Amino acid sequence: MREHVTEAGDIEIPDTRSLLGWALPEDGAAAPSLAWLVARLRDSRPDWRLLESLTRFDDARYARRTLAKTRACELLLVCWMPGQGSPLHDHGGSWGASLLIHGELRETRFAWAGDRLRVDAKRRAGEGDLMREESHTIHRVLNDSRHRAVSLHVYAPPMEGMTTYDEVWAESVRRRRPTGAGAGRRRRPRAG
Ligand SMILES: [Fe+2]
Repeated sequence: MREHVTEAGDIEIPDTRSLLGWALPEDGAAAPSLAWLVARLRDSRPDWRLLESLTRFDDARYARRTLAKTRACELLLVCWMPGQGSPLHDHGGSWGASLLIHGELRETRFAWAGDRLRVDAKRRAGEGDLMREESHTIHRVLNDSRHRAVSLHVYAPPMEGMTTYDEVWAESVRRRRPTGAGAGRRRRPRAG
Protein backbone atom coordinates (compact mmCIF):
# COMPACT_ATOMS: atom_id res chain seq x y z
CA MET A 1 0.00 0.00 0.00
CA ARG A 2 1.36 3.41 -0.94
CA GLU A 3 -1.14 5.52 0.89
CA HIS A 4 1.35 7.40 3.00
CA VAL A 5 2.48 10.43 1.00
CA THR A 6 5.31 12.78 1.74
CA GLU A 7 5.86 15.65 -0.65
CA ALA A 8 9.43 16.76 -1.21
CA GLY A 9 10.35 19.62 1.05
CA ASP A 10 6.93 19.47 2.59
CA ILE A 11 5.21 18.13 5.66
CA GLU A 12 4.30 14.51 6.24
CA ILE A 13 0.65 13.81 5.46
CA PRO A 14 -1.38 11.64 7.85
CA ASP A 15 -3.07 8.52 6.44
CA THR A 16 -6.70 8.73 5.33
CA ARG A 17 -7.92 6.77 8.35
CA SER A 18 -6.66 9.61 10.53
CA LEU A 19 -7.92 12.29 8.15
CA LEU A 20 -11.34 10.89 7.24
CA GLY A 21 -11.98 7.74 9.25
CA TRP A 22 -11.51 5.28 6.35
CA ALA A 23 -8.65 3.84 4.33
CA LEU A 24 -8.05 3.81 0.59
CA PRO A 25 -8.23 0.38 -1.10
CA GLU A 26 -4.80 -1.19 -1.17
CA ASP A 27 -2.60 -1.62 -4.21
CA GLY A 28 -3.88 -5.07 -5.13
CA ALA A 29 -7.52 -4.07 -4.95
CA ALA A 30 -9.68 -3.32 -7.98
CA ALA A 31 -10.62 0.30 -8.57
CA PRO A 32 -13.69 0.95 -6.40
CA SER A 33 -17.01 1.96 -7.92
CA LEU A 34 -18.33 5.50 -8.01
CA ALA A 35 -21.01 4.50 -5.50
CA TRP A 36 -18.28 3.34 -3.11
CA LEU A 37 -16.38 6.61 -3.46
CA VAL A 38 -19.51 8.68 -2.88
CA ALA A 39 -20.44 6.64 0.17
CA ARG A 40 -16.96 6.94 1.68
CA LEU A 41 -16.92 10.72 1.28
CA ARG A 42 -20.51 11.08 2.48
CA ASP A 43 -19.82 9.04 5.60
CA SER A 44 -16.41 10.53 6.33
CA ARG A 45 -15.57 11.79 9.77
CA PRO A 46 -13.08 14.49 8.79
CA ASP A 47 -10.47 15.68 11.23
CA TRP A 48 -10.93 19.37 10.45
CA ARG A 49 -7.85 20.45 12.34
CA LEU A 50 -5.66 18.04 10.40
CA LEU A 51 -7.23 18.95 7.05
CA GLU A 52 -6.89 22.67 7.70
CA SER A 53 -3.21 22.16 8.48
CA LEU A 54 -2.78 20.67 4.99
CA THR A 55 -4.41 23.49 3.02
CA ARG A 56 -2.12 25.42 0.72
CA PHE A 57 -3.30 28.31 -1.44
CA ASP A 58 -1.53 29.70 -4.48
CA ASP A 59 -2.15 33.21 -5.78
CA ALA A 60 -1.46 32.05 -9.35
CA ARG A 61 -3.91 29.17 -9.66
CA TYR A 62 -5.93 26.68 -7.68
CA ALA A 63 -3.64 24.37 -5.70
CA ARG A 64 -3.97 20.61 -5.51
CA ARG A 65 -2.23 18.36 -3.03
CA THR A 66 -2.14 14.57 -3.16
CA LEU A 67 -3.07 13.31 0.30
CA ALA A 68 -2.95 9.60 -0.48
CA LYS A 69 -2.53 7.34 -3.47
CA THR A 70 -2.65 3.64 -4.21
CA ARG A 71 -2.91 1.89 -7.57
CA ALA A 72 -6.68 1.69 -7.03
CA CYS A 73 -7.51 5.16 -5.84
CA GLU A 74 -6.21 8.61 -4.97
CA LEU A 75 -7.28 11.38 -2.61
CA LEU A 76 -6.64 15.05 -3.37
CA LEU A 77 -7.12 18.28 -1.45
CA VAL A 78 -7.80 21.30 -3.65
CA CYS A 79 -7.63 24.91 -2.46
CA TRP A 80 -9.32 27.68 -4.45
CA MET A 81 -8.73 31.39 -4.05
CA PRO A 82 -11.59 33.71 -5.06
CA GLY A 83 -11.82 33.83 -8.84
CA GLN A 84 -9.76 30.68 -9.44
CA GLY A 85 -11.18 27.86 -11.52
CA SER A 86 -10.28 24.73 -13.39
CA PRO A 87 -10.05 24.50 -17.15
CA LEU A 88 -12.83 22.72 -18.96
CA HIS A 89 -11.74 19.09 -18.56
CA ASP A 90 -12.54 15.41 -18.45
CA HIS A 91 -10.91 12.92 -16.06
CA GLY A 92 -8.92 10.65 -18.33
CA GLY A 93 -11.40 7.80 -17.94
CA SER A 94 -11.33 7.86 -14.15
CA TRP A 95 -14.39 8.52 -12.03
CA GLY A 96 -14.59 10.33 -8.75
CA ALA A 97 -16.45 12.16 -6.06
CA SER A 98 -15.78 15.52 -4.45
CA LEU A 99 -16.77 16.92 -1.09
CA LEU A 100 -16.78 20.66 -0.56
CA ILE A 101 -15.45 21.17 2.94
CA HIS A 102 -15.20 24.96 2.97
CA GLY A 103 -16.67 27.80 0.93
CA GLU A 104 -18.67 27.66 -2.31
CA LEU A 105 -17.93 26.45 -5.83
CA ARG A 106 -19.85 26.66 -9.09
CA GLU A 107 -19.81 23.67 -11.41
CA THR A 108 -20.75 23.87 -15.09
CA ARG A 109 -21.23 20.57 -16.91
CA PHE A 110 -21.01 20.18 -20.66
CA ALA A 111 -22.47 17.63 -23.05
CA TRP A 112 -21.67 16.81 -26.63
CA ALA A 113 -23.96 18.29 -29.26
CA GLY A 114 -22.57 16.89 -32.47
CA ASP A 115 -18.93 17.91 -32.56
CA ARG A 116 -19.33 20.71 -30.05
CA LEU A 117 -19.72 20.95 -26.31
CA ARG A 118 -22.61 22.88 -24.87
CA VAL A 119 -23.58 23.74 -21.34
CA ASP A 120 -25.70 20.94 -19.94
CA ALA A 121 -26.15 21.89 -16.29
CA LYS A 122 -24.99 24.38 -13.71
CA ARG A 123 -25.01 24.03 -9.98
CA ARG A 124 -23.64 25.76 -6.96
CA ALA A 125 -22.09 23.62 -4.25
CA GLY A 126 -21.89 24.68 -0.62
CA GLU A 127 -20.18 23.22 2.40
CA GLY A 128 -21.00 19.54 2.81
CA ASP A 129 -22.22 19.11 -0.78
CA LEU A 130 -21.01 16.17 -2.84
CA MET A 131 -20.25 16.24 -6.56
CA ARG A 132 -20.11 13.11 -8.69
CA GLU A 133 -17.66 12.92 -11.57
CA GLU A 134 -18.43 10.03 -13.87
CA SER A 135 -15.98 8.68 -16.42
CA HIS A 136 -17.72 10.67 -19.16
CA THR A 137 -18.13 13.89 -17.14
CA ILE A 138 -16.78 17.04 -18.78
CA HIS A 139 -17.02 20.09 -16.58
CA ARG A 140 -15.49 23.25 -15.25
CA VAL A 141 -15.32 24.25 -11.58
CA LEU A 142 -14.97 27.84 -10.46
CA ASN A 143 -14.76 29.67 -7.17
CA ASP A 144 -16.74 32.74 -8.12
CA SER A 145 -17.30 33.72 -4.52
CA ARG A 146 -15.36 36.32 -2.55
CA HIS A 147 -14.01 33.73 -0.14
CA ARG A 148 -11.57 30.84 -0.20
CA ALA A 149 -12.85 27.33 -0.88
CA VAL A 150 -11.44 23.88 -0.09
CA SER A 151 -12.57 20.59 -1.61
CA LEU A 152 -11.65 16.92 -1.20
CA HIS A 153 -11.55 14.70 -4.30
CA VAL A 154 -11.25 10.94 -4.54
CA TYR A 155 -10.63 9.29 -7.94
CA ALA A 156 -10.50 5.71 -9.14
CA PRO A 157 -8.33 4.65 -10.72
CA PRO A 158 -5.85 7.48 -10.11
CA MET A 159 -5.94 9.91 -13.02
CA GLU A 160 -3.09 9.23 -15.39
CA GLY A 161 -4.05 12.14 -17.55
CA MET A 162 -6.96 14.17 -18.58
CA THR A 163 -7.98 16.19 -21.59
CA THR A 164 -8.64 19.89 -21.38
CA TYR A 165 -10.80 21.64 -23.94
CA ASP A 166 -10.30 25.05 -25.40
CA GLU A 167 -13.16 27.38 -24.71
CA VAL A 168 -14.45 29.52 -27.51
CA TRP A 169 -17.54 30.64 -25.66
CA ALA A 170 -18.98 29.48 -22.37
CA GLU A 171 -21.91 28.06 -24.30
CA SER A 172 -20.09 26.50 -27.21
CA VAL A 173 -16.76 24.74 -27.37
CA ARG A 174 -14.98 23.21 -30.31
CA ARG A 175 -14.24 19.52 -29.78
CA ARG A 176 -10.78 18.28 -28.88
CA ARG A 177 -10.49 14.55 -29.35
CA PRO A 178 -8.77 12.77 -26.40
CA THR A 179 -6.53 10.73 -28.69
CA GLY A 180 -4.88 11.28 -32.04
CA ALA A 181 -1.97 13.40 -33.13
CA GLY A 182 -2.66 17.07 -32.67
CA ALA A 183 -6.28 16.45 -31.78
CA GLY A 184 -6.18 16.88 -28.02
CA ARG A 185 -4.11 18.44 -25.31
CA ARG A 186 -3.16 16.17 -22.48
CA ARG A 187 -1.84 17.65 -19.29
CA ARG A 188 -0.85 16.46 -15.90
CA PRO A 189 -4.04 15.66 -13.97
CA ARG A 190 -5.59 18.55 -12.14
CA ALA A 191 -8.50 18.05 -9.86
CA GLY A 192 -11.74 19.97 -9.70
FE1 LIG B 1 -13.18 17.50 -12.50
